[in-house]
This record gives sequence, C-alpha cells and structure tokens, in this order.
Amino acid sequence: MIYSRAEIDAAVARLASDITRDYRRKNPLLLGVLKGSFIFLADLVRRLDFPLEVDFVRLSSYARGTQSSGRVRVVQGLRVPVRGRHVLVVEDIVDTGLTLAFLLAYLGRKKPASLKVCALTDKPSRSKTPVPIDYRGLTVPDKFIVGYGIDFDNKYRNLPDICCLED
Ligand code: IMP
Ligand code: MG
Repeated sequence: MIYSRAEIDAAVARLASDITRDYRRKNPLLLGVLKGSFIFLADLVRRLDFPLEVDFVRLSSYARGTQSSGRVRVVQGLRVPVRGRHVLVVEDIVDTGLTLAFLLAYLGRKKPASLKVCALTDKPSRSKTPVPIDYRGLTVPDKFIVGYGIDFDNKYRNLPDICCLED
C-alpha cells in the first residue's frame, strides 16, 4: 500500500480547505476528468460548503498498457459554457503531464475567467512537460498505482487505499 484511506482523507481535507479559501465566493465549475477522478471528486465536493457546479470531461490518451502515449483525444467534451467561469480541473493522477497539458490548452481556448488544477496524486519523477498543479494532494513514486478511483485496465478502482499494481 502506498497511501491508506486515512492518509487520503487527510489530503482531501487539506485540499478542500485550500480550495474553500480561494473559491468560496466564485461559484466555480469543478471539472472532473473521467473516469479516474470520480471518487476523489465525490469526496472533495462533500467537503466544500459553498456554491459550486460540477461537470465532467472524458479524455482518451490512446494508452497501451501502463504507458501514456501523449496523443490525447476528447471523448466527451464540456456540456456547459465555461467562458467567464472559474474552472478548477480535478484529476486523479498527473504522470507525464501530457494529458493535463492537452486539457488545459483545450479549456484555455474557451476563455474561462480562471483555470486551475487540483490533482490528487502526481508522479514528479515522470514529468515530461511542465504543468501547473495548483492544488497538489499526494506525491507517488514512479510505479503504476491503482485504487481510490484509479484503474489498471478499468479494474481496481474500488480499492479504498492507493496501492501499487504489483502489490
Ligand atoms: P499523463 O498524460 O502521462 O500525465 O497520464 C495521465 C493519465 O494516465 C492519468 O489521468 C491516468 O488516467 C493514467 N495514468 C498515469 N499513471 C497512472 C498510474 O500509475 N495508474 C493508473 N493510471 C495512470
Ligand atoms: Mg485520468
């Protein structure tokens, strides 16, 4: 196990308090990246006690096995206008950063009032492109991780802890 459910809870609470401080009066749009962020986003929004909206985008990174190819495609785009909105992207994991870089460029073209990123986990050792992570949860080692919404081949999302696939 890499992070227990208690450690994840503490990280989510810390992120929620930082986000509350910055977004309390901004009616932000929290944009979850499907599918991996669904559990994190669900836990996060229940700790946010102010007006906000939730939407999702679904991306495909043409990944084969456990390597991200960096060739990203929007499978399900935005359903609500983001022009002039304060958008907070909610990601499960930032690995090379290529997916997030693509998404930020896509969203930036739609002229939000602000655009920031909240990532539950990131693997700094694997970064290939600099992406701003404004709200950073837990740093993970250069291993393939699963659990708490994060999958391998669509499995293991239901594990309550964050684990290494090899475990
Ligand atoms: P990136 O484009 O390399 O940053 O990869 C981003 C996406 O690849 C994430 O949103 C995940 O869907 C997937 N990914 C990267 N690393 C892992 C991992 O360790 N476990 C599960 N999925 C991962
Ligand atoms: Mg993802």
